[in-house]
Amino acid sequence: MRDQFGRNIDYMRVSVTDRCNLRCIYCMPEEGVPCVSHSDILTFDEIRRICGIGAELGISRIKLTGGEPLVRRGLPGLLGMLKKIPGIEQVTLTTNGILLKDNINELVSNGLDAVNISIDTLDPEYYHKITRRGGIEEVLSGLDAALSYPALKVKVNCVPLKGMPEETYVQLASLAKDRDVDVRFIEMMPIGLGKEYCGVSGQEIYNILKERFGEAERCNGKFGNGPAVYVQFSGFQGKIGFIDAVTHKFCSTCNRVRLTSEGRLKLCLQYETGIDMRKLLRSGADDEVIRQEMRRVIYEKPACHHFADGRPDTPASLSGDEKLETRDMSQIGG
Ligand code: GTP
Ligand code: 5AD
Ligand code: SF4
Repeated sequence: MRDQFGRNIDYMRVSVTDRCNLRCIYCMPEEGVPCVSHSDILTFDEIRRICGIGAELGISRIKLTGGEPLVRRGLPGLLGMLKKIPGIEQVTLTTNGILLKDNINELVSNGLDAVNISIDTLDPEYYHKITRRGGIEEVLSGLDAALSYPALKVKVNCVPLKGMPEETYVQLASLAKDRDVDVRFIEMMPIGLGKEYCGVSGQEIYNILKERFGEAERCNGKFGNGPAVYVQFSGFQGKIGFIDAVTHKFCSTCNRVRLTSEGRLKLCLQYETGIDMRKLLRSGADDEVIRQEMRRVIYEKPACHHFADGRPDTPASLSGDEKLETRDMSQIGG
């Protein structure tokens, strides 16, 4: 379906939990987030129902996110349920990779189409500092396990942090040299704890990589669901991608909405604006009412975020129904 700005909304990011087994400094506080009780989290049947109605409205691709999606028990089963919905062409997963090795067989047998693994550094000490937990060895085993399925598209996500050694990015990009994996660099977005950290722009990362690997060729065409722009370095199997969320705003082509684990259908990363689907479902609304509500609210999707255009990040600067998101990325699902 199209929103008020004519954007085709065909992608839903579904957060299945706000819990995580890591505590990345820019995403989650050390003590975790206040525990949401199980009864406040959407059940798998509720998620399936919302995705089913979403599919009737034109959603064809679903991304499972968290917190860490694999800490929710039975996730591969949910994936299988979503894959069976008529109109859903692709279900993909974004994970920190810690539990990936143990789950990959079941995920693939339930129809997983692609997996993104978050790795900010390969250095065990820095990995521990950033995640406050460690476990890079498990993550790399998970990456290898995923790569053992040739039909599965595998990508790595890195959010560069100012002050990390440049070699970090050369090493991460090098994963794409001999493996069929795309490595993406994401600009730190000022959401939740992300406001307290400084990221590195895609251009700066590209300049570092160019020094080492030479000039890359721009890849034309669309790969995946997201806003990443890809380049190919000579001799590399995989591509290098850039998600320049701050320096190159991509809102005019935004194709997505988000469902939080508590059932809020959220229209844009930066705003709370949306609708409480859990309340609607649990009030006994029938499919037709839910469909109409989803259509109405998706139509009203805001034009864009205002991360870097000088607009003050205060409630007073907001217009109409806009309400700034106050939660951390782990509670939104990235
Ligand atoms: P694929 O290309 O299919 O892998 O999808 P994706 O890039 O949307 O997935 P992923 O979950 O790996 O997200 C990568 C990064 O993009 C995360 O940091 C997200 O927060 C960010 N991102 C995803 N959607 C949006 C969006 O709508 N707006 C902004 N600003 N960032 C987004
Ligand atoms: N800015 C950009 N990306 C972020 N992620 C988490 N917090 C932020 C932020 N503030 C990333 C994670 C993961 C993806 C789902 O979102 O590192 O790769
Ligand atoms: Fe879309 Fe909002 Fe993200 Fe922009 S910030 S790309 S409008 S969800």
